[in-house]
Amino acid sequence: MSLEIPHRAKANGATAATKAVILVGGPSRGTRFRPLSLDLPKPLFDVAGHPIIWHCLTAIAKVPHIQEVCMIGYYDESVFRDFIKDSSKEFPQIKIVYLREYQALGTAGGLYHFRDAILKGRPERFFVLNADVCCSFPLNDMLKLFEDKDAEAVILGTRVTEDAASNFGCIVSDAHSKRVLHYVEKPESHISNLINCGVYLFSTDSIFPSIRSAIKKRADRPRLLSYPSSENLESSFFQDDDDESKKNEVLRLEQDILSDMADSKQFYVHETKDFWRQIKTAGSAVPANALYLQKAWQSGSSELAAPSMNILPPVFIHPSATVDPTAKIGPNVSIGPRATVGPGVRIKEAIVLEDSEIKHDACVLYSIIGWNSRVGAWARVEGTPTPVNSHTTSIVKNGVKVQSITILGKECGVGDEVRVQNCVCLPFKELKRDVANEVIM
Ligand code: GDD
Repeated sequence: MSLEIPHRAKANGATAATKAVILVGGPSRGTRFRPLSLDLPKPLFDVAGHPIIWHCLTAIAKVPHIQEVCMIGYYDESVFRDFIKDSSKEFPQIKIVYLREYQALGTAGGLYHFRDAILKGRPERFFVLNADVCCSFPLNDMLKLFEDKDAEAVILGTRVTEDAASNFGCIVSDAHSKRVLHYVEKPESHISNLINCGVYLFSTDSIFPSIRSAIKKRADRPRLLSYPSSENLESSFFQDDDDESKKNEVLRLEQDILSDMADSKQFYVHETKDFWRQIKTAGSAVPANALYLQKAWQSGSSELAAPSMNILPPVFIHPSATVDPTAKIGPNVSIGPRATVGPGVRIKEAIVLEDSEIKHDACVLYSIIGWNSRVGAWARVEGTPTPVNSHTTSIVKNGVKVQSITILGKECGVGDEVRVQNCVCLPFKELKRDVANEVIM
């Protein structure tokens, strides 16, 4: 990744003020991150030893002259208080604020609602990051393209398989100039395998007028331009007609703004060849954990456990966890605060959360062990590996679609010698017999 400072900045001798927005969403009625989101808001879930949004913040902190990060969402204010307090100590050069939407306003609605806060300090441009993606966030490369092209907007793109592409926003671009020619959100038929990673850089002079004209268009055609976010899909559809006005306030960057930008604006795409995944289902935290651990390993992070006969890197072990030296851990494992791992245990491709206990000779593979859960001696908790470039965490077993990652919610117990395979287990369940391919409610 290039860390070069953009050329316009060099020529001026001063870098234009820049901000960043992280779209954190809100407590959704969607079920995709359950059972883990029953106990913790998804943006705060730990992957590779840190909350998902910490990884966004760390990338933002590497951009020169970032003044402020605005987290925009519709969670209660109290949700991010501790995170912001801790992060403000870790990144003292950045002011971090949480701006709460009074209801889900959509990916562009929140930006527009809080435009005065974003424009304070007169930034010339700002990044927007979806909180639910995992990637190397090559923000400085995006900034360079923005400067080189004198762009109004830059989007981060990545290539996926043709099958996967229609689950994302699709970009048609000019390979030579990198200009975005056409943008379609989750198209019904294939148009491109270059997809929207959910990371943008916008010029402040350009994005707010674009949102304003989308609002004007909406006013002209009120019923046609109301799109719910996939996060608040259910709540939007279950609202009755009295709530029609609320629905009309939802503005989506993707459908309402980006398509028009491709027609009329200096809109460019930076294609990343580095890793990128969505964090949607609870199971998708396992590949995200692996990717962030590998990144930390490649950068020589001192946070990771030292490799040994029984530690196969990359592995993160929280300093307060107790791991028996005969346990074989890794690769791609995170072990949370105060967890205990007994002798002879094997753990691979997994997240073991706070205060959980894995008893001697148990095996945990492709799984998440929820907070305060217990895995008995000689038990096996396992999922199924999926291809490394796969963008789905479900697989078909005996003709039935199941989660490839086994997940134990908070305070679950797995008995001694019990085998749990490809299951999602809701909090407080005791598993006393072997189970496979089930959701245990
Ligand atoms: N503040 C706020 N308010 N944030 C929101 C809202 C809202 O009303 N709705 C969604 N978000 C946040 C989510 O928390 C998430 O971080 C991001 O915006 C996008 O969420 P979705 O609206 O559920 O979209 P998606 O994930 O299905 O698709 C988007 O991301 C893909 C990449 O992961 C689109 O941008 C796709 O084009 C893109 O490929």
